[in-house]
Amino acid sequence: MDLEKLKNEAEKEVKKAKNLKKLDEIFKKYLGKKGEIARVFTSLKKLSKKERKEVGREANLVKIGIERLIKEKSKKLKEETRKLKLRKERIDVTRPGKKIEAGHLHPLTLVQREVEEIFESMGFSVIQGPEVETEWYNFDALNIPKDHPARDIWDTFWLKNQKLLLRTHTSPVQIRYLEKNHPPLRIVVPGRCFRHEATDTSHDVQFYQLEGLMMDKNISVANFKAVIEEFLKRFFKTNIKIRLRPGFFPFTEPSFETDLQCTICKGKGCSVCKNTGWLEIIPGGMVHPNVLKAAGINPKNWQGFAFGAGIDRLAMLRYKIEDIRLFYSGDLRFLKQF
Ligand code: PHE
Repeated sequence: MDLEKLKNEAEKEVKKAKNLKKLDEIFKKYLGKKGEIARVFTSLKKLSKKERKEVGREANLVKIGIERLIKEKSKKLKEETRKLKLRKERIDVTRPGKKIEAGHLHPLTLVQREVEEIFESMGFSVIQGPEVETEWYNFDALNIPKDHPARDIWDTFWLKNQKLLLRTHTSPVQIRYLEKNHPPLRIVVPGRCFRHEATDTSHDVQFYQLEGLMMDKNISVANFKAVIEEFLKRFFKTNIKIRLRPGFFPFTEPSFETDLQCTICKGKGCSVCKNTGWLEIIPGGMVHPNVLKAAGINPKNWQGFAFGAGIDRLAMLRYKIEDIRLFYSGDLRFLKQF
């Protein structure tokens, strides 16, 4: 083998090598135990003494030369890898940071808090009750006996044991509170309720109510009307008009539907009020004596009124939202508007 040619070839290959692995292969090919240079040394036996000395010396020089080339290239490759790594790991401290997106309150929470504030300013306390209720508090104690057709008003999610249910309204908290607190009292109870029914633009399987209860001596429908009117005036921040219509609830007597003159069309008739000019807004009435008895209070000494406002309904009117289901959709395009 021509040593000069061998050297040139090795040189070319080293130059071309792109990584340390390739370089290692080149090392083995030329300088390994069974490599090209080793073969030259083995073949020396066949030569005369003089030639052996000459070729041997030359082969040694080529060997040293290739070794040096590989060493230099290896150093270069290592340096390149190091630089590449550094470049990859580099942090640009001048780059602007990632903004942490701040969340905000849900429209129902905003409205709930506003409503609570108005009632608090009128002397009402904010009370909570459980979302999982017993049949007793949700129905029986509210003068809705088992098998009475009035139960059909509240399509109910019964839990497995048939004694517990997801509360269909916030009214059970009237009983819970009256059991532990003696009149005079004024409370509002905001909270989530559940109904097992088909959904549409104004019904969902869950919604928020705000129960109200005021008990004292000599409380009448006039007090009920005044409180509701004052609340609606403050909530809608305008002079509103209301009317009371007879209604039916087993736990109030007499019962009313409170209508609010449509805040959108001012009574002229529009799609929101279905051309009636009025919006059914807060049902209520005078607490039924049977309810007071169930809570251990003598109806001869105390009277009161109760009502149940729909927080979703108030929020829909406030923000002009046409589908209640949007509140529970988790759709950020909707939520980001508040
Ligand atoms: N709990 C009734 C409902 O959900 C509303 C209501 C509350 C009516 C208080 C009268 C008094 O339909």
